[in-house]
Amino acid sequence: MTKEDVKQKIEQLSEQLRIHNYNYYVLSETTISDYDFDMLLKELQKLEEDFPEFAVETSPTQRVGGTITKNFKTVKHKYRMLSLGNSYSKEDIEDFETRIKKLVENELEYICELKYDGVAIGITYKNGKLVQAVTRGDGVQGDDVTANVKTIRSIPLQLKGNDYPDEFEIRGEIFFPKDVFEQLNKDREEIGEDLYANPRNTASGTLKMLNSGVVAQRKLDCYLYFVMGDNLPFETHFDSILKAGEWGVKIPREKQKYIKKCKTIDEIFEFINYWDKERNNLNFEIDGVVIKVNNYARQEEIGFTAKSPKWAIAYKFKAEKVSTQLLEITYQVGRTGAITPVANLQSVLLGGTTVKRASLHNADQIEKLDIRVNDTVFVEKGGEIIPKIVGVEIAQRDIFSVPTEYITTCPECETALVRKEGDAKHFCPNEWGCPPQIKGKMQHFISRKALNIDGLGEETIDLLFENNLAKNNADLYRLTYEQLFELESFKEKKSQNIIDGLIASKQIPFERVLYGIGIRYVGETVAKKLARQFKNIDNIINASFEELIAADEIGDKIAESIIHFFSIESNVELIERLKKYELQFELSEEQLANATTKLEGLVFVVSGVFSKFSRDELKSTIEQNGGKVSSSISKKTSYIVAGENMGPSKLAKAEKLEVNIINEDQFLELL
Ligand code: IVH
Repeated sequence: MTKEDVKQKIEQLSEQLRIHNYNYYVLSETTISDYDFDMLLKELQKLEEDFPEFAVETSPTQRVGGTITKNFKTVKHKYRMLSLGNSYSKEDIEDFETRIKKLVENELEYICELKYDGVAIGITYKNGKLVQAVTRGDGVQGDDVTANVKTIRSIPLQLKGNDYPDEFEIRGEIFFPKDVFEQLNKDREEIGEDLYANPRNTASGTLKMLNSGVVAQRKLDCYLYFVMGDNLPFETHFDSILKAGEWGVKIPREKQKYIKKCKTIDEIFEFINYWDKERNNLNFEIDGVVIKVNNYARQEEIGFTAKSPKWAIAYKFKAEKVSTQLLEITYQVGRTGAITPVANLQSVLLGGTTVKRASLHNADQIEKLDIRVNDTVFVEKGGEIIPKIVGVEIAQRDIFSVPTEYITTCPECETALVRKEGDAKHFCPNEWGCPPQIKGKMQHFISRKALNIDGLGEETIDLLFENNLAKNNADLYRLTYEQLFELESFKEKKSQNIIDGLIASKQIPFERVLYGIGIRYVGETVAKKLARQFKNIDNIINASFEELIAADEIGDKIAESIIHFFSIESNVELIERLKKYELQFELSEEQLANATTKLEGLVFVVSGVFSKFSRDELKSTIEQNGGKVSSSISKKTSYIVAGENMGPSKLAKAEKLEVNIINEDQFLELL
């Protein structure tokens, strides 16, 4: 391929990816499989890595993030970021209209929109390219969160068409889709982290994360609602929004009823009433409706107050609150042993759904509100996903009622609960004997990055556990086809799949088995390090604290956790059983043959195309021999292994920092 060919290929791949991305994230239409999309993206990534001179800042590869921001730059807004006046009733809206009618003579047209409950953002495009994204801050200046915003798939990095202004800003609201937020919390629950209370604060926190790679995984979304610029070629707000839609921006669509032209207050109220009822069916949170005068010339006539435009107003929905009776407080044990008290309520309709339960968070919360069984309590569904109890009707309390006493033992296994200093929650310490905790461990064991057992999932693990067919990881390997087949809704294929999956998992390399057995703080990377340095499980079991911390990247906390894990007899027994089932508890012959510590302490950067290795082979060879692979050149880099076509910018950087550049033959000599 000539350089010109490469450049063309990069452009063609980028365009293809951009279109699929737009179809999926803006229009909600799927036009390519995930797999094919990833393949195209990988191809593009590889080309850009090999030819960094053709990598552009608006490339679809930017979506995966990876930039680390140490300090967010403070940026002054070109146009102040104003807020909106609030209204709560039809009278308020009528007053709004009376006020503006005094200022204009022409007939008025309004645009009604949803009021997205997210985080305001101002995005600047220059010549069609996203160049900057800034948070509201104090309205005058905000934080530059460009790297993070670039990972949001529904925000175009490059606009479509060619009739956009040379420079303009578009404002909108970044938010968590409800389903994404719920999944995020589910994932956190599984690993024992505290749950996030509401999508808005979490979106705001996410935008301020330092690693854009993490932001990319969070799947934020965005609606844009306000185009600003000098000499914009539009007469109305509505036209500007439609045009932005043509440029590829995610805007509210009339056919979804997210935006509507209105002439009268009655029409405005139809829109408000419709969404007050329907908002629970949206996959994002809204907290009201925004009403804007459509025509720019009229907006100018009406003008601004110090804080907000006089030509627009927000109508806020009332937070729904109902009262009901608290029947019982029960306690849930999470997969990590965390205890969550749950209020069981006399069922009541709230926010479009029947509510029977509400979270009580922790012991402090119960004490603070003095919540007691049989109380009449107020339940609210605000921004929070899970309804919460916001107060008690003390006047209605039974005179014989007594304060709630928090449980002291685990409701699942009766072990005495502990509460560490600084923790809001109580925990059941019976990590290896408490049913939900055991099930959690099994789920981790079968998960994709661990033993990756085909056919087994969360529900199946529950089912096997409840039916006494598997009470731990080793039990899984004695399951028979007949046992599975007898379970409800298990057919031939499903049963055979699991058996095959279990057999296949016996080939999973040692490092993943080590990760899968679930030693606290031994994540994927640590498991890899341990496997390479200790070579088999017995060496790890027998290692002293000193030997463990002497190993690369193993600190006190991890070493203590490993020692603790193997001090529990049942853990060692379990490993003995898994060994009998022939799982990999040592490095393979091949890994051993290649493994040395010759490269210990050295940091390598790999660039270009090689003839004796694939790039991945080269990287794993470095790691197997104790070296580290890094993706960017710095003062810490010991060697750059350069193949054909090493990018010129990497070369320049290497020369500047005076890093040794070696070819693959020299690398082999080093070994
Ligand atoms: S227009 C100058 N439209 O709500 C007017 N704002 O409480 C700029 N918001 O500051 C705002 N949805 O952060 C507008 N459809 C919408 C909105 C919206 C949510 C936010 C925005 C605003 C705040 C006011």
